[in-house]
Amino acid sequence: MRDTVKQQSGAGPRSGFFAWRNRLVASRRFQSWASRLFLTRGVARREGEALFDLVSGFAQSQVLFALVELRVLHLLLEQAETADAMAARLSLPPDRARVLLHAGVALGLLSVTAGRYRTAQRGAALLGVPGLEAMISHHDVLYRDLADPVAFFRGETETELARFWPYVFGAGGAVEPAVTARYSDLMADSQGLVAEETLRTVSLAKVRHLMDVGGGSGAFLTHVAEKMPKIGLSLFDLPVVAPTARARFVTAGIAERVTIIGGSFRDDALPCGADAISLIRVLYDHSDATVRALLSNVYRALPDGGRLIVSEPMSGGAVPNRPGDVYFALYCMAMRTGRARSADEIATLLGQAGFSQVRVRPTSRPFVTSIVECVRD
Ligand SMILES: C[S@@+](CC[C@H](N)C(=O)[O-])C[C@H]1O[C@@H](n2cnc3c(N)ncnc32)[C@H](O)[C@@H]1O
Repeated sequence: MRDTVKQQSGAGPRSGFFAWRNRLVASRRFQSWASRLFLTRGVARREGEALFDLVSGFAQSQVLFALVELRVLHLLLEQAETADAMAARLSLPPDRARVLLHAGVALGLLSVTAGRYRTAQRGAALLGVPGLEAMISHHDVLYRDLADPVAFFRGETETELARFWPYVFGAGGAVEPAVTARYSDLMADSQGLVAEETLRTVSLAKVRHLMDVGGGSGAFLTHVAEKMPKIGLSLFDLPVVAPTARARFVTAGIAERVTIIGGSFRDDALPCGADAISLIRVLYDHSDATVRALLSNVYRALPDGGRLIVSEPMSGGAVPNRPGDVYFALYCMAMRTGRARSADEIATLLGQAGFSQVRVRPTSRPFVTSIVECVRD
């Protein structure tokens, strides 16, 4: 039975029912009875499986991590191999290689026929998602931050992710080129899907000039340029990030079309001239105070009728979801600077900054991004 957060919290009219229901479901006798009864055993089994999925989630992620780090999905993409052959290739003890490959089969990433393993459809799909392998690979940092989850939730952990993304602490914060490069590559790789989803959901047909604020290494604008040959483009980001964008625009043959502006939206007024501004995966990096100031900055930079597009993974708000309220919420908390907000929270902040016609645009892949749009009028 599904009960919303609202129903569960407080002593509402049905709280007596939920307390009774929970006592019943928690009792061993009831569970045993429900797992035998024809009418309830399907539900009991599904609930049991769902519960065990949560229990084993970390082990599942670590199997995925090992498969990615050892490039197993690549190695078995074209041709099937025995466990012994893979053990030799991966320099793993054969019995351990077998366990890893079996685990990969159990997760649907590999398949096995007559003792030979190959990459399954889901594993092949993983390889086709831009940036997904890089994202999985950098999870060693996240997992170290979450090693003591109670300390983490108490706010007692000195998180590594807060250092991994040092630029978010302010303009000029990104002083280490190696860190910037790692960040930019990861962001740019994963930007492909975000750009695809954003451009599928919002139309830029009437936009004359788009400025991508916090545009990073320019992956989003490169996608826009490809789709819309006439639109004017500018990118605003910290000066340390700008050279990466320039290189991308030169490679894509659009350097002439894009103006790159180095600056900090915390300290500098955003330039005027664009009739649309995009904030792609920017707000969730920052505190409410910074977001408020940024949105006011955006408001001032836009003309009457100008549009703002916010695209980033969001919390489900009153109806929490796994991508937004488990993964991105914890990730942002580990970064210690921002948070995953719900579309409604973002809409409220937009309204407070003076924007109107605020619309939440549902996307087909909310685990990639969600979108809120508005207009300055
Ligand atoms: C999470 S990344 C997103 C990059 C890109 N929009 C994307 O989706 O791939 C956030 C971006 O905001 C930029 N940023 C952070 N603080 C900034 C500031 N104070 N002024 C300008 N840009 C900033 C970062 O350099 C980075 O490129």
